[in-house]
Amino acid sequence: MTERRNPAQVFGEVAGEFDRVRPAYPAALVDDVVNYGRPGLGGLRALDVGAGTGRATEAFAAKGLPVVAVEPDDAMADVLARRVARFADVQVVRATFEDFRPAERFGLLFSGEAWHWTVPETRWSLAADALEGGATLALFWNNERIAEAALRAAMLRVFARHAPSVVISDEPVTAEQVWRQWPGDELAGHAAFESCASRHYQCQRSVPTADFLGLAQTRSQFRMLPPSTRRDLLEGLTQLFGDEVPLAIVTTLLLARRRQR
Ligand SMILES: C[S@@+](CC[C@H](N)C(=O)[O-])C[C@H]1O[C@@H](n2cnc3c(N)ncnc32)[C@H](O)[C@@H]1O
Repeated sequence: MTERRNPAQVFGEVAGEFDRVRPAYPAALVDDVVNYGRPGLGGLRALDVGAGTGRATEAFAAKGLPVVAVEPDDAMADVLARRVARFADVQVVRATFEDFRPAERFGLLFSGEAWHWTVPETRWSLAADALEGGATLALFWNNERIAEAALRAAMLRVFARHAPSVVISDEPVTAEQVWRQWPGDELAGHAAFESCASRHYQCQRSVPTADFLGLAQTRSQFRMLPPSTRRDLLEGLTQLFGDEVPLAIVTTLLLARRRQR
């Protein structure tokens, strides 16, 4: 039987592991997003697009923001719902961003590592429609790169040998590049948004090898490989590392304001 899986919605296959091993977003990022916007979001709620297991949802809810968290994958949404159960002001909506039909305008739209999974033809207009004039758009991604050059080169060789179709794009986006490449180029050129800004956060951290291998298995490209390729790849990677894997993590945040209508 031919497998017909949607690469945008394979994360639920490993929802628990995803939640456990994907690095948290920097606390400073959440503060920067909140400070960029109007105090108290002007009395409006925040919208989390592609909320997943709620890593970002929880961080913003913990700042006292009311959040509508939109997530299409049931297994991810189950973890999300448990995670945010203690916040009375967080609502979980099981839908894609495209199917979500809000009856309100939001004071903030944020999306962590999910904006690239939304539909290209509609994502910016849906965001512009969902936001009140002057409200904040905040898009962010963590980028985890093996911090030792020789170890990283060895990892690339293992991927090239077992899964040459996988594109390893672990070059962090620099402040110079951010408005020249996607999504900065599209956001900066969009008539509905203004006052674009970016922030970059860096840290170095060693993670247990099992967690690094778990992280690799939460990537959509990995999940879409045939099971035998996944197994060979994991065996090859396991042989490379000692107890820990040194990571350089760069988080990129893009900010913009919805222009007044
Ligand atoms: C890499 S995960 C990131 C989850 C979460 N934002 C985080 O920071 O951990 C991407 C999420 O986007 C969701 N997703 C995929 N396509 C989507 C769409 N069209 N609309 C909304 N969410 C989508 C996936 O189900 C998945 O949970």
